[in-house]
Amino acid sequence: MNKKITVLPGDGIGPEIVAEAVKVLDKIAKKYGHSFEYTYVDIGGCSIDKYGVPITDEGMALCKSADSVLLGAVGGPKWDSCPANIRPEKALLAVRKELGLFANLRPTKLFSQLADASPLKKEIVGGGIDLLIVRELTGGVYFGERKTEEVNGELVAVDYMPYSEHEIERIGRVAFETAMKRGKRLASVDKANVLDTSRLWRKTMHRLSEEYPQVEYSDILVDNTAMQLIKNPTQFDVLVTENMFGDILSDEASMLTGSIGMMPSASLSSGTLGMYEPIHGSAPDIAGMNIANPLGTILSAAMMLRYSFDMAKEADDIEAAVNKVLDAGYRTCDIMKDGCTKVLCDQMGELVIANI
Ligand code: IPM
Ligand code: MG
Repeated sequence: MNKKITVLPGDGIGPEIVAEAVKVLDKIAKKYGHSFEYTYVDIGGCSIDKYGVPITDEGMALCKSADSVLLGAVGGPKWDSCPANIRPEKALLAVRKELGLFANLRPTKLFSQLADASPLKKEIVGGGIDLLIVRELTGGVYFGERKTEEVNGELVAVDYMPYSEHEIERIGRVAFETAMKRGKRLASVDKANVLDTSRLWRKTMHRLSEEYPQVEYSDILVDNTAMQLIKNPTQFDVLVTENMFGDILSDEASMLTGSIGMMPSASLSSGTLGMYEPIHGSAPDIAGMNIANPLGTILSAAMMLRYSFDMAKEADDIEAAVNKVLDAGYRTCDIMKDGCTKVLCDQMGELVIANI
């Protein structure tokens, strides 16, 4: 198969980790007779520096016309003082919105080889954490109207959090369908004891749950979810939630594994176009040092093969190679422990390639 991939390396460690994922994709292309054509586009701080905007219109068009998009990371302290409308993160939100990437899948898996890295006690992580957060990505408070104005002599800021039934229903469907392919358990996270958006969310999820009787469905309040993720994380299979709750809970969940550098993510549209990125950030403190962990990005590339290109065998191949490299004791510094062999970012990439 011939596929066009728009590559957005971004800022900080983005270019280093993306380079390794692209090498891995090249190896897959060679082994399975595919051809992947890459177009590179600046996004985030590097684009602000060059063009004065976090992504250009041409760059956005190249994302829209691709078969899929691979992203490193955006942002860094250098651009923290930029005005709100040209911050690096603005480009990320714009790509999500313009490409219609409403479904964000964030798997959190404790690799057995890295069990010691979890900050939780062994009795709690038990048989292993393997959960998936399905986060709504193009609605809610991230995209609602916002303003700051003077009222009675002081500033008042408002951020609206709108959700319509169709937005809730389409993310709900993704969650139920995904749960059907996994452990068939779905918890919907809301704040229905306070918010109207959450009450509509819950009502819509209940209606959908009747269509999926095989899925064991439950509602859980977001504050309780935050607690349960620490207390008993293995109770969860799939969690579905709105944009901001998903942002917060997915950071919490990823930390349960102790190795945020390993976690991939996929942002999907109603078609096959998707954007794939590691869930960690741009780590400006270690940028350019060739010590970042490229595995989160490499596993994101595997998700791209699985979800956008329907190449399950190829995706399995990458995931198996990552497991073999970990089994053989190779570690980047973020997951290093005694008795293992420390490797650099590009060496980790090469090791994965050698195992494909
Ligand atoms: C994420 C990030 C983004 C978000 C930021 C960078 C805008 O935290 O992908 O989780 O809040 O969605
Ligand atoms: Mg986040």
